[in-house]
Amino acid sequence: MFPVRLLAFSAVAGVAITVLADQSAKRNALKHVVTKGVGEHFFQLGDINYFSESLNSACEQAASDSDADGSLFPFTHIIADRPVITGSCIEDIVTRYGQEDDVFNEDFLQAIFFTSSSNTASLDASAIQYLSTLGISDLILSKAFADHASNITGSFSVIVLSTANAASLPPGPFIGKLEECGLSMSTVYRLYTDHQRAFVDGVYPASDGTRGHKSFGFFNPEWPLPSIPVPSRIYSWTDDRPLAGQRFAVKDIFNLQGIITTSGSASWTRISGPANVTAPAIQRLLDLGGVIVGKTKTTQFASAAEPWIWDDVYPPLNPRGDGWLSCSGSSAGSATAIAAYDWLDYAIGSDTGTSMRRPAAVAGVYGQRPSQGRMTLEGVTPISHSTDTAGVFCRDPYKWLKFSRLWYTPALYQDRSLTGLPAYDGPHGQGLPKKILYPVDYLPLKHPAAEDVLQGFLAKVTGALDTEIEQFNWTASFEKLSQPADFDLARLLSNLVVMWTYEQYQLVGEPLVAMYEAHHGSYPRLEPPMRDRFRSLDYSAAEHEAARDIRRRAAEAFEQQVLYSTSDICSESIVLSDISTGGLPAYREEKMNMSPNASFLAPPGTAGTSGDFCPFFGCIDVTVPLGQVTYWSKKTLREETMPVTIGLIAKRGCDLMLYDFIEKLADVGVLKTVKAGVQAF
Ligand SMILES: *[C@@H]1O[C@H](CO)[C@@H](O)[C@H](O)[C@H]1NC(C)=O
Ligand SMILES: *[C@@H]1O[C@H](CO)[C@@H](O)[C@H](O)[C@H]1NC(C)=O
Ligand SMILES: *[C@@H]1O[C@H](CO)[C@@H](O)[C@H](O)[C@H]1NC(C)=O
Ligand SMILES: *[C@@H]1O[C@H](CO)[C@@H](O)[C@H](O)[C@H]1NC(C)=O
Repeated sequence: MFPVRLLAFSAVAGVAITVLADQSAKRNALKHVVTKGVGEHFFQLGDINYFSESLNSACEQAASDSDADGSLFPFTHIIADRPVITGSCIEDIVTRYGQEDDVFNEDFLQAIFFTSSSNTASLDASAIQYLSTLGISDLILSKAFADHASNITGSFSVIVLSTANAASLPPGPFIGKLEECGLSMSTVYRLYTDHQRAFVDGVYPASDGTRGHKSFGFFNPEWPLPSIPVPSRIYSWTDDRPLAGQRFAVKDIFNLQGIITTSGSASWTRISGPANVTAPAIQRLLDLGGVIVGKTKTTQFASAAEPWIWDDVYPPLNPRGDGWLSCSGSSAGSATAIAAYDWLDYAIGSDTGTSMRRPAAVAGVYGQRPSQGRMTLEGVTPISHSTDTAGVFCRDPYKWLKFSRLWYTPALYQDRSLTGLPAYDGPHGQGLPKKILYPVDYLPLKHPAAEDVLQGFLAKVTGALDTEIEQFNWTASFEKLSQPADFDLARLLSNLVVMWTYEQYQLVGEPLVAMYEAHHGSYPRLEPPMRDRFRSLDYSAAEHEAARDIRRRAAEAFEQQVLYSTSDICSESIVLSDISTGGLPAYREEKMNMSPNASFLAPPGTAGTSGDFCPFFGCIDVTVPLGQVTYWSKKTLREETMPVTIGLIAKRGCDLMLYDFIEKLADVGVLKTVKAGVQAF
């Protein structure tokens, strides 16, 4: 990862002194586990697993990468930013490493490697004293320290490298090996086990000069749970890009160079090769400094399938409540990973029907369906160019806002020939909406305790911001839409279904079936709804165009009559929307949902939810966590908690305004960071 070659060193024998507090006795020694590819190491420090790529050898002739002689050791690299290093300065650095990084720990203090940003540097007596107290075994110094090194005596050996500093070597935890010609070393990844089964696999950047990634492909031996390799956060402290070192998971429909995009289908995977190019949406986050740690599970081809429909892939385990709640779909792996793992910062997903917002709702995290067209979906397994969108899950509203504002850059907006919608007609000044519309035909939430949470939220919003709540009726407002004539909910849904299936058949279904037949002599294995859908094209090109045309005219009317701009406010109001179950548990097991105290996320036979409106009109709909309610679990047979969320809908193109509004709510403490794990709050 970091091309470092340090040539030739001279060792200065350390003089043993009495160690005051022998920290080294408590320190776990490196235990080598297995060597993977060429020179890749799996090792343990205590009960924590790590991985490192092959060492950047110090020697012209790379020595053996194996650890047969047991000479690999963990160490910590510190960049001295001043000429004289004191004990308290080292203490501050070591403390900060421990507090702000989960990869670094005490075990890496077996040795410390100091480099310096100046030409000459020295450690004073307090530094030597402190290093003795830490109980390090080896002090390794770069050439800058050479002049002063002969004066150092401590309870450790002192090694001075005779080469110049490696300017590109980041600070943080490493493993290395001392060789005749110098210090060979590698960055390390901590391995986290994916207990919630959210990931397809871990990935890590290929260090072969391409911009690609490699599949990690290391699973627990007892049970095949993927290990996710996570680099030290400290490595990015010298990187000034806005998202440097932020860890991302990516839904496995986005291409990542070097990795096969599974799209949740074993049959699709069998006929696919590794992606040659990373999807521009994902390249954008890499360019901003983000680190991708794995690809996450999705339903087959990002369908809306509930957990009991999943066939090729075991559906992720929603960590909330009793651990048996639905993870929903399709961006289930991404939402689950964010809800479960505090070592993960962001997860990318997509939303065509409900696929960001519903997983966000059941996981109790932030996530959005942006305005139609805000992010290119080139290099992403498509469903429908008219309705596909990309979003991001996060636990922290500020982090979520920061990434959303940076990621959706106008350079990556979709061409309007894809969305079929008119240009965004903002911006309209900096004002924030003064009205929140409460849809009387879709609220209150079914569970009274959840409605109390929503009412508490609304009271705080009106108390803190210059905003009032107004009753609103979707059905009535559709009736009044002057264009196109006779527009109603049934028409909205039937047009959506045409858009949701037409292109997917042509771009995915038809080629999959043909290639699979050609290579494997049978119809591909598909989950029930997909199996039927990929047999034939149910609509003509003319019907598809007509659906898009009605949608465009309806969206134009909607943006003039329902959610419109004023001279200084992009979206005059915000509409509330429940994408979930109104505070009742939706389990991952079908039968459990057929009871008055539970609910399906998409109740069979019901004609649409308010979650369908933004896929149709192209508006932005953000799911935000508000609180939690208790329910009596059919699995654990006791009370458990589940998250309560609400959707905030604004006019298409008013994403930045809605982000400003959400930021205000975070500033006054109405929206909060949620926790990872069983309870969001
Ligand atoms: C090393 O220590 C000696 C004696 O304490 C001192 O005179 C000398 O200046 C020191 N040298 C360096 C380079 O610090
Ligand atoms: C990737 O590149 C190879 C070699 O140029 C090519 O054969 C293959 O079709 C490309 N794959 C994709 C998905 O573009
Ligand atoms: C909403 O409007 C529809 C159509 O005008 C009407 O039938 C319905 O009763 C209204 N719903 C409520 C809760 O007011
Ligand atoms: C539903 O919940 C209520 C209140 O907890 C309980 O009294 C009732 O027995 C439950 N009904 C079923 C069918 O589980």
